[in-house]
Amino acid sequence: MIFLADEQATLDLAAKLAVLLPVSAFSIHLKGDLGAGKTTFVRGLLQALGHSGKVKSPTYTLVEHYQLNERDVYHFDLYRLADPEELLYLGIEDYFSTNALSLIEWPEQGKGVLPEPDLLISLNYQTSGRQVTFTPYSAMAEQICEKLHN
Ligand SMILES: Nc1ncnc2c1ncn2[C@@H]1O[C@H](COP(=O)(O)OP(=O)(O)OP(=O)(O)O)[C@@H](O)[C@H]1O
Ligand SMILES: [Mg+2]
Repeated sequence: MIFLADEQATLDLAAKLAVLLPVSAFSIHLKGDLGAGKTTFVRGLLQALGHSGKVKSPTYTLVEHYQLNERDVYHFDLYRLADPEELLYLGIEDYFSTNALSLIEWPEQGKGVLPEPDLLISLNYQTSGRQVTFTPYSAMAEQICEKLHN
């Protein structure tokens, strides 16, 4: 568990994670209430990976594609997904079959269809600031989490 006092702390932690990510396929689920800081965390990751400019919330498009240093990065926001089956029409297998990095907000909405992530990031409101918990689902993610807590 890590405490994030303000938005900058969220961006800084995301940047710290960015340099630890493997170049192979890796998927991250971001959970937390509305406004908990999921997109902020994604913005920190994308910027640390070389993206400059705005980060659109793909609330209506469901997914936004970035190519950063030859790497495909997919940012999903599944908040408005009506049914997990809709993901099949998006061709989600492709997103996980390459060396892509996928960042998925509201993964609960894709339950049953979305594959298990490598890493789950949970953001929670505190009286002020946020608290973040990392849950690794792969050996690679476990190593990353150890380094993040140091
Ligand atoms: N550690 C933090 N402490 C306080 N405020 C923060 C922190 N991290 C992010 N915020 C602020 O929280 C607000 C909402 O953030 P963000 O849009 O990232 O949430 P979200 O989880 O993506 O919401 P949604 O579920 O609507 O997509 C922003 O104004 C951001 O500046
Ligand atoms: Mg968001």
